[in-house]
Amino acid sequence: MNTSGMLRDGALEGKVIMITGGGTGLGRSMGEYFLELGAKLAICGRRVEVLEKAAGEMMAAKGGEVFFHPCDVRSFEEVDKMKDAVIAHYGKVDVLLNNAAGNFISPTERLSPGAFDAVIDIVLKGTKNCTLAFGKHWIKNEEKGKVVLNITTTYAATGSAFVVPSAMAKAGVSAMTRSLAVEWARHGIRFNAIAPGPFPTEGAWSRLLPGDIPDMLKIENQVPLKRAGERQELANLAAFLVSDFAAYMNGEIVTIDGGEWLLGAGELNFLEAVPDEMWDWIGEATRKGK
Ligand code: HXC
Ligand code: NAP
Repeated sequence: MNTSGMLRDGALEGKVIMITGGGTGLGRSMGEYFLELGAKLAICGRRVEVLEKAAGEMMAAKGGEVFFHPCDVRSFEEVDKMKDAVIAHYGKVDVLLNNAAGNFISPTERLSPGAFDAVIDIVLKGTKNCTLAFGKHWIKNEEKGKVVLNITTTYAATGSAFVVPSAMAKAGVSAMTRSLAVEWARHGIRFNAIAPGPFPTEGAWSRLLPGDIPDMLKIENQVPLKRAGERQELANLAAFLVSDFAAYMNGEIVTIDGGEWLLGAGELNFLEAVPDEMWDWIGEATRKGK
């Protein structure tokens, strides 16, 4: 494993990158690496005090500039005002990273309609609102070479019990990624997505794996590589996808999960539990089948 930065110095020089939910967790980690590579950042979220603190700490740690603007991505009006504020500040935005999300585990029959909407509105409607606001701006002004990177999940493709609103919303984000990759290519906007496996963050773990659940379930056993992801591994992939080095990548959803989703999918994957010595016996026994 190599958890150092991957791209060359200055790889994102001159780019302005807007990260929704950029004040915490994975959004912040990706942002810090973008700063290291020379980008300027704008971050949004609902809590101004979180944004202000994060922006100060990120600039102190990495240098560069982090502009923040509080915004609830569920409201198109707020998103449009946020877009105007960022463009008034920097003059342009080159990359939109749709990272903000809401989620929690629950049996679906226990969810109120409002609980369902809380997640769908942040993830699906929020991603739509930001993409539409920035996309309309780029297209109207004939600005080319723009990038949208969406953060989805592996269960957007497979579905998952106990996170049904999130699975439904992330599946919609994947569909939007692939649809607009084709439709807006003529406007010089490319779309990709990342589907991460487990990358421990306070936001995700407090809502999906509270208390002792990670120890009880041994979450790393769900992953063939027997570990969670390192944030720099995700940041390296994100930096590549938003950079000009990935200019021919469009409409791709890149999984980075240590093989987690495949472990649950392959019919004979349970044989992972068979110890080496037992394979000698299995080898003999299966040859007898000839
Ligand atoms: C059941 C719940 C609930 C819970 C809230 N509700 N939490 N129902 N179980 N744990 C219900 C409320 O009772 C309310 O119902 C409705 O949902 C809205 O709740 P609010 O608290 O008013 O909503 P809001 O303040 O907007 O908060 C949204 C949130 C919250 C999604 C509920 O958790 C949040 O702010 N999350 C943002 C950050 C986050 O979730 N990060 C993790 C992303 S991890 P009524 O009936 O009154 O309307 C992720 C990883 C995926 O996506 C893959 C991992 C491997
Ligand atoms: P996180 O720290 O909780 O990040 C979520 C961010 O979204 C917060 O900064 C939050 O800020 C913001 N946000 C939530 N609702 C918002 C709203 N209505 N308007 C604006 N901003 C809002 O969790 P994370 O683990 O870093 O997750 C980041 C992304 O990775 C998400 O898309 C998540 O689905 C994805 N992901 C994570 C994992 C993992 O293992 N961590 C795995 C797969 C996918 P406020 O609360 O201040 O608004």
